[in-house]
Amino acid sequence: MARIALVGPGAIGGIMAAWLQDTGANDVVLCSRRPLPHFTVETPNKVISFKPAVWTDPKEAGPVDWVLVATKAYDAEATGRWLKPLTARGAPIAVLQNGVEHRERFAPYVPVERILPVVVQAPAERPEPTRVLQRGPTRLVVPAGPLGQAFAALFAGTEVAVDLSPDFQTAVWTKLVLNIAGAVSALLLRPAGVMHEESASEIGRMLMRECIAVGRAEGAVLPDELVETVLQHYRKQPPDSLNSLHADRLAGRPMEIDARNGAVVRIGRQHGIPTPCNAMAVELLRAMEKPA
Ligand SMILES: NC(=O)c1ccc[n+]([C@@H]2O[C@H](COP(=O)([O-])OP(=O)(O)OC[C@H]3O[C@@H](n4cnc5c(N)ncnc54)[C@H](OP(=O)(O)O)[C@@H]3O)[C@@H](O)[C@H]2O)c1
Repeated sequence: MARIALVGPGAIGGIMAAWLQDTGANDVVLCSRRPLPHFTVETPNKVISFKPAVWTDPKEAGPVDWVLVATKAYDAEATGRWLKPLTARGAPIAVLQNGVEHRERFAPYVPVERILPVVVQAPAERPEPTRVLQRGPTRLVVPAGPLGQAFAALFAGTEVAVDLSPDFQTAVWTKLVLNIAGAVSALLLRPAGVMHEESASEIGRMLMRECIAVGRAEGAVLPDELVETVLQHYRKQPPDSLNSLHADRLAGRPMEIDARNGAVVRIGRQHGIPTPCNAMAVELLRAMEKPA
């Protein structure tokens, strides 16, 4: 039986914890900022309710076999405080976050060869701290290799699909191109339907083209047509759909702008690739995060 710690039991972390403990083959403990006397995840096919084991302070934590991190990217420093006790016996950590800098974010706390980056495809919300809605199928993509295989084995017998990608760089940058365009809605405070308008679509195209140029410099294979594919993806969504950047701005929460558009600017600079549209989006959204 694998002992697994899940740091950040929010929408994504809640889904992972529910499926992992549902197998009966894992011993799961939630590392949370708050007590969680019970937890319910409504998946497309069944409701999973359980009374979780919970640690609310890194001082309570002990070594485990695997750590899954599902906090927001901007919470990496506070998340890092859990990792020393949890990985004291050399446990690997899987980072289930958006962006492309999973390893860089946690390299200060864990040797980089023990960090597994994970692309998450899972529409999920957390209406209450102890209740999560999994709104569709869940697919995780990890780099092919022994660590990826060991991670995939944890989910055997669950409805979480884990793909082992021989070209993870392309997978993670393709997801970033999709996320990059979400800044348009967050800036305009207009949901997905705004992408039916040519002016908004054109801003999305400019943001995505910069991301594609930087991703290609990082070795990802990103076709020019990806831009129109992503626009069609947004146009097919219900017009009132909110992406997470937009939802966070509406709720007055911090946004993952640095891990998304900020990463394009930062990595673009390393390659000498100009990214003025993403730089402007980052500065505008950062200014909007500050109280008036
Ligand atoms: N939701 C989606 O549909 C979706 C889809 C694909 C990818 N993602 C990505 O997945 C990642 C997680 O997103 P999410 O939607 O699951 O976020 P979320 O619902 O906000 O969950 C984040 C969780 O982390 C917890 N947390 C923060 N700091 C912590 C700390 N120091 N120790 C322990 N727990 C801590 C939060 O606790 P509190 O309860 O105290 O706030 C919350 O439970 C993000 O990178 C996101 O972009 C999300």
